[in-house]
Amino acid sequence: MLHSRMIPATRSGSGSVTGWDTKPVEKLEMLSPFAFCAGGSHAKAMERNDHLDELLVCRLDTGARVIEPCTIIIFGASGDLTARKLVPALYHLFIEKQLPDPFRIIGFARREKSDASWHGELKTALEQYSRTKKADPVAWQNFTSHLTYFEGDYDKAKSYQDLAAVLKKFGNEALTKNLLFYLAIPPSQFAGVVQQLHESGLLQKGGASRHWQRVVIEKPFGHDLESARQLNAELTRYMQERQIFRIDHYLGKETIQNILMFRFSNNIFERLWTRQVVDHVQITVSEQMGVGSRGSYYEEAGALRDVVQNHVLQILAMVAMEPPASLEAESIRDEKVKLLKCIRPVLPGQADSYVVRGQYAGGQFDGQIVKPYREEPKVRPDSNVETFVALNLFIDNWRWSGVPFYLRAGKRLALSASEVRVQFRPPPHVLFAAQCGPTLDANSITLRLQPNEGITLHFNGKIPGTTMQIRPVRMHFSYNAEFGAYTPEAYERLLLDALAGDATLFIRRDEVEIAWSIVDPIRATWEKRPLSENEFYAAGSWGPEPSQELLARNGHAWRNPQPAASLVQNPK
Ligand code: BG6
Repeated sequence: MLHSRMIPATRSGSGSVTGWDTKPVEKLEMLSPFAFCAGGSHAKAMERNDHLDELLVCRLDTGARVIEPCTIIIFGASGDLTARKLVPALYHLFIEKQLPDPFRIIGFARREKSDASWHGELKTALEQYSRTKKADPVAWQNFTSHLTYFEGDYDKAKSYQDLAAVLKKFGNEALTKNLLFYLAIPPSQFAGVVQQLHESGLLQKGGASRHWQRVVIEKPFGHDLESARQLNAELTRYMQERQIFRIDHYLGKETIQNILMFRFSNNIFERLWTRQVVDHVQITVSEQMGVGSRGSYYEEAGALRDVVQNHVLQILAMVAMEPPASLEAESIRDEKVKLLKCIRPVLPGQADSYVVRGQYAGGQFDGQIVKPYREEPKVRPDSNVETFVALNLFIDNWRWSGVPFYLRAGKRLALSASEVRVQFRPPPHVLFAAQCGPTLDANSITLRLQPNEGITLHFNGKIPGTTMQIRPVRMHFSYNAEFGAYTPEAYERLLLDALAGDATLFIRRDEVEIAWSIVDPIRATWEKRPLSENEFYAAGSWGPEPSQELLARNGHAWRNPQPAASLVQNPK
């Protein structure tokens, strides 16, 4: 189930409202979270509206979730993901009192290590990478009293028997039998570990009566359709689909969840979401960072497998799917699957017309010289792996027929930002449109997913004065301004959901397979062909030239995400 966790606890009101029990308001205009960027006292308006906002908080989750005492076992305990994301997320959940009582965390890895040295490494990473940085010494001490390091071999049955013995020593049935296994290990080891867990009796198919066991699996889930199918078949030999939690951390981001709230709790926007009104849609997931130390992984993945097959297609599904029958996990996942099935396949011979790839060359970036991709550590000097992808997809259903969806993702681009821009059709060619021609900007709505999360409505306004001049202006809603800077990490939300057995924000078997079937033919075309000159792009640019041409062919142009400062100023 989706829950309304957009509202920080401090603002959710003391007399907690259950279910759909909301109060009517008399002056709805006072409640608008939108504020003209150009002026007006937003702070004062917020103060005035606070009380009414509280009355309108619709709590979808009150009383719905029970997280039972359990043990979380992390495979890959000495890896980066554990130190940078998983343990910081668990620590935040712990200090916010969201973990059950009692709970335990076991870190399973090959390296020899004491509890103390593992805790020390985790603390260093927490203070470097987490959203709160410095750990509170007392809270950290309390937290680590629940954390045990376990040295084991993923392939040896004996390790799993020893693990069962450690669990038994906890002396509490729930801690021994309610188990969340988190596989933060290379994909080639997923099936082997799950088999061992099953054979040692730790993971029971369907879960033991009264108790549960679940397995969280990191991406990439396979490397193509065939391998994903095979992995699915192997995993479901030892557990049921409902015990598998395939993670895509983008779904844990507040703003991605908010796409559904934005679309389906607002009557005014959803009715615009059709081919009659929308001209085209742009989705950008851009990063300034290069591949860094992940060269060997990236050489196998490339941008298409690394982010398009999962994060980008998930965003597309959330933006374009039909309203689900309910907020239950299966209803939402059914709609995403339906949407993905409607994506017109890019056939091998058509890749050049609909898809562009690129690889970053070196250049000046943020005042520093950066290396080309081919010179990054553990990257082949003649690598043809793509660090940039742009696609023009079509969704062949009633709502979206004929509307181009442009998707792009890449590393070493001009700005780190993820955005969805819904570009509406221009006004009819009378009055202003007739005189201004293409300089009259069409309306659009931009959902800024990260950073500086927010929603911007672009429209045209008259420039004050005695002459008739029009230019685009913006209404901008900023999460930070409205709700404060509280933004839980995606992993916090997802771990909590997995503990509660809520699979809404996880990827279902058919979803992952359809996503592979969309990207596989594209990959196959590229594998046969080395990169050509015009497929390289300068670090710090917006990608290779053909990416611009992809849109120009349809008379469109990329609207690049803007830096934070310009989000609150009106465009020129
Ligand atoms: C990961 C990819 O899944 O997502 C990375 O493997 C990418 O290559 C990252 O950098 C982006 O995530 P975020 O949360 O930083 O946008």
